[in-house]
Amino acid sequence: MLVPVLLSGGVGSRLWPLSRESFPKQFQDLTSDLSMLQETAARVDGLDNVADPLVVCNEEHRFLVAEQFRNEKRRAAAIILEPEGKNTAPAVALAALRAVQTDPEAVLLVLPADHVIQQVEAFCEAVGRGLPFAQKGQLVTFGIVPTSPETGYGYLKRGDELAESTFTLAQFVEKPNRATAEAYLDSGEYCWNSGMFLFSARAYLEELGKYQPAMLKACEQAMASTQTDIDFLRVDAKAFAACPADSIDYAVMEHTDRAVMVALDCGWSDVGSWSALWDVADKDEQNNYLHGDVLVEDVKNSYLRSQDRLLAAVGVDNLVIVETPDAVMVADKNRVQDVKAIVSKLKADG
Ligand code: GDD
Ligand code: MG
Repeated sequence: MLVPVLLSGGVGSRLWPLSRESFPKQFQDLTSDLSMLQETAARVDGLDNVADPLVVCNEEHRFLVAEQFRNEKRRAAAIILEPEGKNTAPAVALAALRAVQTDPEAVLLVLPADHVIQQVEAFCEAVGRGLPFAQKGQLVTFGIVPTSPETGYGYLKRGDELAESTFTLAQFVEKPNRATAEAYLDSGEYCWNSGMFLFSARAYLEELGKYQPAMLKACEQAMASTQTDIDFLRVDAKAFAACPADSIDYAVMEHTDRAVMVALDCGWSDVGSWSALWDVADKDEQNNYLHGDVLVEDVKNSYLRSQDRLLAAVGVDNLVIVETPDAVMVADKNRVQDVKAIVSKLKADG
């Protein structure tokens, strides 16, 4: 059985002021009529033998998640609640431990709930390519041809070709510095890590036990005494508190020698920032994306979103302006990575 694991624990701070800790971007309809979580859940419909998804999220978001599956074709098989965020390696471990309880051979398709994929068929095809390798116990990554020396991504070095568009993974480097990322881009040998993974639950748990035994132990203990409450699965807070925090990329993927890479060309974007949202949006003749009550005069290449009030702009180029009831943010479209700094300042000010 193929079990989608939807990772929905992030807060999306670079999409402030729309994305907030209490209502992060994955629960919002930023890119279509569905929320990004609902889009992600629906994306697997074209795959064979696929189970209802396991959703892993912060306890604080449980009602948001439950609400999002209420009227959807697919229900969540379980909503695993983390008392606190420990990053993605433990989140995936909880899902893996849950999956092997019902099917020891379960193959997990790990999907961040905040990505956009424009060609779903191509995505499903790539998953199909990776499946035989996952069933053999390998850890499948999905590589995107890079277009810039982005430092927020992991990089996958292509090894030998194993099958069509499928390679051994010669090296996995999470978030290299700028100079290294530039060298990788120039070499033509690296892809971006999409952040999606395909592996058997058992293989992941084996690798986690090998490289992060304390993490595996804490997750096993946290899952040993869960409380079930309708679809919610509440893991043991004390045991989980003892779990080291780390991402799957640093904790497992940089170390494992069981990884392969399937090349993926499907209009993928992790829409982590306002400019990334602008990139994937349908734009008008002036290259603007305008949403809500917005009036413009001589505006180009901009992203303007109003939620509550009339938003008007004159004679500007390459800006992001986002209006919400309690905050307005204006940014140069080339500087949107730094929106995070505003969020940090807000936090520091309490
Ligand atoms: N349940 C849960 N718990 N989910 C989490 C947690 C957590 O503690 N932390 C993060 N997530 C979710 C986020 O919501 C997101 O959907 C996904 O896991 C990945 O986490 P990010 O924090 O967005 O990772 P990243 O973007 O810095 O890096 C990853 O994705 C890149 C591509 O977008 C890595 O896999 C990179 O290698 C990759 O290039
Ligand atoms: Mg991300």
